[in-house]
Amino acid sequence: MEFGLTEEHLMIQDAAKEFARQELLEGVTERDENGIYPADQIKKMGELGFMGMMVDPKYGGGGMDTLSYSLAMEEISKVDAAAAVVMSVNNSLVCWGIEKFGTEEQKQKFLVPLAEGRVIGGFCLSEPEAGSDATKQRTTAVDKGDYYVMNGTKNWITSAAHAQYFIVIAATDPSKGHKGISAFIVDRDSEGFELGPKENKMGMRASDTHSIMFNDMKVPKENRIGDEGFGFKLAMSILSGGRIGIASQALGIAQGALDLAVQYSKERKAFGKFLYEHQSVSFKLADMETEIQAARLLIHKSCWMKDQHMDLNHFSAMAKLKAAETAMHVTTEAVQIHGGYGYVREYHVERLMREAKLTQIYEGTSEVQKIVISRTLTRD
Ligand code: CAA
Repeated sequence: MEFGLTEEHLMIQDAAKEFARQELLEGVTERDENGIYPADQIKKMGELGFMGMMVDPKYGGGGMDTLSYSLAMEEISKVDAAAAVVMSVNNSLVCWGIEKFGTEEQKQKFLVPLAEGRVIGGFCLSEPEAGSDATKQRTTAVDKGDYYVMNGTKNWITSAAHAQYFIVIAATDPSKGHKGISAFIVDRDSEGFELGPKENKMGMRASDTHSIMFNDMKVPKENRIGDEGFGFKLAMSILSGGRIGIASQALGIAQGALDLAVQYSKERKAFGKFLYEHQSVSFKLADMETEIQAARLLIHKSCWMKDQHMDLNHFSAMAKLKAAETAMHVTTEAVQIHGGYGYVREYHVERLMREAKLTQIYEGTSEVQKIVISRTLTRD
């Protein structure tokens, strides 16, 4: 068993930390407050290789392992979780999905620009009536020979206003349930692609989230990923790896909140001593640190399992569940330690608390992770 980070891991961690401090920290509160997408910062992240970290270099990626990606996600998320979710969806849902299941032509045409960060990707699974129960797809793609005609609405799409290419899950044969669902790559410039209104979110307000409508939109047949009927399994498989990204994001949010709480407890005095000298505060800090370390171990093990090509479903669900619950608990405690200052914008912890909430909801709610975990436990 090896728990240490290699020289290469440490370099990537440092590079992400430095980028976050230099490029993301300034203006993060204003971007969040006003819902301003960090376009320049995302462009720079692409140029530095943060958008296709695990993709094979022959397709324009960094060829790194999953732990490198997780370490970078954690550092970026400590400072700006909105930028981090754009990075997570691009890396572990869109790039990974196309690299794993796409044809050589799809990789050359779509993966290379996505991995090089020249364009951004989005992932369209959720619908108004298909959230946690993802089999209930109402979006249809009807085979017309050389192309499909797609109709339907997708909800909660990260990067919807800025992404160029989307993986879209749609029913090709609604009579077959989840076995009649297929996956496609959709270009936003297609006729019939319509961007819905922007969601006015509680947190991660700088990442743009919209619905997307497809109105008789033609999708070339060569844009289908995998066979007809493989789309649900493809989506589940993508999500089981993708949950490492959101788990790492939740971990970064939690670690960021703990760092701020420790710092504040060493600066602020009450009743004649520093906050950390009060047992009520020091016990909170100890619990926060223990939860974070436990979540990190689950995440790092999931990274290792993914690189060993092991069945990841159970572990990545536990990693995401633990990290999201930890983020919510730790950020709430960080606000409490800051008292009144924790409840105002300038101190960052209230933003981290709002961000943490979303990690319990997207890429599968905490309840969805519990379904996945308990099913593997009780399977014969
Ligand atoms: N890999 C491959 N196949 C898988 C799989 C996986 N990880 N998980 C399930 N499958 C297969 C099953 O083997 C089964 O196949 P067979 O019928 O051939 O045996 C099939 O898929 C159906 O599986 P289930 O019976 O387990 O499906 P279910 O309807 O009970 O759903 C669920 C299970 C876990 C709740 C699933 O619906 C789910 O994960 N829902 C949540 C969806 C989600 O995470 N949405 C988030 C959207 S993405 C997002 O948020 C991105 C963003 O922008 C931030």
